[in-house]
Amino acid sequence: MSFSLSKYLNNKRAKIENGLKTVFKNPGDCPKTLWDSMKYSIFAGGKRLRPVLCLAAGEAVGLSETAALRIACSLELIHTYSLIHDDLPALDNDDYRRGRKTNHKVYGEAMAILAGDGLLTLAFQWISDAESYPASFRKNVAQVAHELAWNAGYPGMVGGQVDDVLSERKRPVLSKVYSIHRRKTGALLLASTRLPALLAGVSNVKVKALTDYGKAAGLAFQIVDDILNETADSKQLGKSAGSDRARGKMTYPAAIGLAASKKEVKELTGQAVRALTIFGAKGEPLKALVLHMAERTY
Ligand code: IPE
Ligand code: IPE
Ligand code: MG
Ligand code: MG
Repeated sequence: MSFSLSKYLNNKRAKIENGLKTVFKNPGDCPKTLWDSMKYSIFAGGKRLRPVLCLAAGEAVGLSETAALRIACSLELIHTYSLIHDDLPALDNDDYRRGRKTNHKVYGEAMAILAGDGLLTLAFQWISDAESYPASFRKNVAQVAHELAWNAGYPGMVGGQVDDVLSERKRPVLSKVYSIHRRKTGALLLASTRLPALLAGVSNVKVKALTDYGKAAGLAFQIVDDILNETADSKQLGKSAGSDRARGKMTYPAAIGLAASKKEVKELTGQAVRALTIFGAKGEPLKALVLHMAERTY
């Protein structure tokens, strides 16, 4: 039977929604406004690509789905925090996200900052709960949490966001925009495919394959985001189109033009697909996912 990506996505997204519902089942001592504000952004209809990639990578390396889901949810918590903070007036100052008003527009800046803080720390609370993993994986949990911190922190996403902001209105230079994109977006996507391999404790060759795949797919993903910011409309994207030019962001299209940016996406997608050879048929979902990410329209 041939592989159907749409069925695969529906199936995995349903599992991720359930996983996130479990994360948000019990507010405990959480102040109500903070809880509502975190839930507002988490359940706003994101594409869930990082968690889907995590589940697909987990399958490729034979990780149990419950274990992969725990990492997947943590990735989505961090991603959502990064979007809330990215949209703040002090950063990109955006009014729309995931087809609705940004968090700070609804809950105010103070609560949006705190919702981001809450989601980021919740991600580490969730991923580091060693007891919740099957016994054979527990010894790798600390390494997985450590690497997630590395990718989300100043060496990865936070560092990339800093350079993104500091590079506004500067002359675009390809090596700089590569370095920004690799960190601000690429690092968390790379973590999405590497962490399941580290938790499963598979061979270095397999870890490297998922590293090469995640690196290429992660960079391609942000280049497509840059392209769509110029070519799609706000309704289609669920966020403000044309904002990169308006803010003088250093993007691939600004540095090398639209045509060369599209070519780069193709090249990176090919690299990602080639990295999957070692997984044979088990790499099929990851292959379909990276092709889909390159062709996406929102
Ligand atoms: C948007 O990411 C921000 C980037 C890092 C480019 P997504 O396009 O994955 O956003 P959602 O999760 O679907 O809203
Ligand atoms: C988002 O980058 C990267 C992070 C949130 C870490 P952008 O600022 O380019 O993405 P959008 O266009 O707001 O989604
Ligand atoms: Mg930004
Ligand atoms: Mg932004």
